[in-house]
Amino acid sequence: GKGNFRHFMEKELHEHPIVIGDTLHRMIDPATRLPVLPALDLDLNTISRICISACGSAFYAGLTARYWIEEYARIAVDADVASEFRYREPPLHSDELGIVVSQSGETADTMAALRYIRTQGCKVMSVVNVPESTMARESDLILETIAGPEISVASTKAFTAQLTVLAGFALALAHARGTLSRDRIEALVAALMELPAKAAQILNEEDEIRRLATQIQDARDVLFFGRGSMMPIALEGALKLKELSYIHAEGYPAGEMKHGPIALIDASVPVIAVVPSGPLFEKTASNLQEAAARGGRIIVLSDSEGAKKLAGIASEVVILPDCDPFVAPILYAIPVQMLAYQVAILKGTDVDQPRNLAKSVTVE
Ligand code: M6R
Repeated sequence: GKGNFRHFMEKELHEHPIVIGDTLHRMIDPATRLPVLPALDLDLNTISRICISACGSAFYAGLTARYWIEEYARIAVDADVASEFRYREPPLHSDELGIVVSQSGETADTMAALRYIRTQGCKVMSVVNVPESTMARESDLILETIAGPEISVASTKAFTAQLTVLAGFALALAHARGTLSRDRIEALVAALMELPAKAAQILNEEDEIRRLATQIQDARDVLFFGRGSMMPIALEGALKLKELSYIHAEGYPAGEMKHGPIALIDASVPVIAVVPSGPLFEKTASNLQEAAARGGRIIVLSDSEGAKKLAGIASEVVILPDCDPFVAPILYAIPVQMLAYQVAILKGTDVDQPRNLAKSVTVE
């Protein structure tokens, strides 16, 4: 049941810390502090390329993994929504690795992508939350998310668990291929290990998030901006808001703003930026500056350092815990999901069962 929570979604949001912790516990060897993968008849050193396929939020987890794997393991990665991938039938070489990501392990398009990848002679790794699922059964390697059952149609804890698994996988690849030093890998693992405590801290910011929700509940359109590995979190924020509140929302890579979406910006369109300190902070900040100059109402999610720098242009700031830029996508997924939840509460929509949606899309 939902215990003392009003909705399954609220309960599942509060499970972020434990789910991230359990997922890390399964993956990180306490003795070596390195991620360990289940035995696989595949040499991590010979993977020439990776293709990731998934739907919805699971796809955004895959998109984030693309940034991590390319940066840390130096392997080229493609990421596609499964409904496009399966019919595009891209040519694959047998030394490529396919990755599918799915909470249910039963999504029809993702299943078809998995089967297509196998017809190309490639191994498939699945990141699934249900180990008895069809996808798990048909994969060469399963990396399990330890999220427990997710009832709410809007995915929450399964998403952060997928990100956690994929982050660990990127580091395992980097270790096997020698693209990161042992020290660097240990530092990144340590950053992952701090996530449960920081996730719990964010869940305590409910009042802040509720205040933010009152600022956007009457908007017709909302834009979410991020760059680099934060770009998929902008997409996640927009998808959750659409699903739960029926407000039209779009996520964009902030650098793409001046190629079109900036035309939408005026005082009636809140712009929500997921912008932690890190290598792309200044770039994102200057994109936000341009949006502010067009009268945009800028809502900033950042750490204390970033918040200080953006105070002049932001109409609202939510300060999140400091973290290594590597783990920021996992941490920042939580407030954007909480925001969608709070807007739904204000609007009185059906939180756990949004209109027209099914938890598991088993037909195409
Ligand atoms: O079970 P799956 O992870 O394969 O489901 C994929 C999508 O249907 C799912 O993430 C969907 O986008 C959620 N409603 C997002 O909140």
